Amino acid sequence: MRRPILAANWKMNLGRADEALEFVRRIRFPLSEIEGADRVVCPPFTVLAAVAEGLAPTPIAVGAQNMHFEDKGAHTGEISAAMLAGLCRYVILGHSERRAAGGALETDAAIQRKVKTALARDLTPIVCVGENLAQMEAGETHAWVSGQITSAFEGLSAVQVARCVIAYEPIWAIGTGRAATPVDANRVIALSIRASLAEGFGEEVAQAVRVQYGGSVTVDNIADFMAMPDIDGALVGGASLKPDYVDLVRRAVEAAGSH
Ligand code: PGA
Repeated sequence: MRRPILAANWKMNLGRADEALEFVRRIRFPLSEIEGADRVVCPPFTVLAAVAEGLAPTPIAVGAQNMHFEDKGAHTGEISAAMLAGLCRYVILGHSERRAAGGALETDAAIQRKVKTALARDLTPIVCVGENLAQMEAGETHAWVSGQITSAFEGLSAVQVARCVIAYEPIWAIGTGRAATPVDANRVIALSIRASLAEGFGEEVAQAVRVQYGGSVTVDNIADFMAMPDIDGALVGGASLKPDYVDLVRRAVEAAGSH
């Protein structure tokens, strides 16, 4: 049994302490009462410490949205795993909005280094993968997504891979209101993500790793995703900024319990 995991990706929102804490105060008690799933909030760096403190008395964990693969040095504006350790438990890596910005820090090789560094610092990586619209339409989803998986985890042990969380986020579904169908998302997760993990690290690891779906998840569609056998949770952007995010998590847990 894989424990469901719901992560809120605030992106570049609620980055001032007053607005972040006001929102945290609204959701923290109802959200902490929903048992049966790991709950993670990923705010901007500017309020990471404040949100962590605001959530400290609760079981809700905090995550960062990115990090550098080096521990320290001349990297102006960057944040390292060493800095995050102790401040948060999770870190989103390789989000498509970052990969799309390009550059040396978001290549497959860089993301592979980030995964290793995060694990070395006892952070749980949420590794994002997913195809763009042209790739989906050209029937290249499987090749692309399984390639991203192989690259991200290359050189890791099976035990290390089992500690990671993966988010399957088709780029065309992010922020568009056009979510993947639960059946399609489940198929990619089973046949492209778990199958690649099984090939590289064995069937046991493939079945142990938690895989989220992300891309236009809402309070209305979450239950359908969670009812799928290979979907263990969601990485939620826009809908995580609304007070009814608590209802989204509640529905997710109820739906997960039904299969
Ligand atoms: P969305 O974003 O829920 O707003 O589509 C998801 C994500 O980018 O993680």
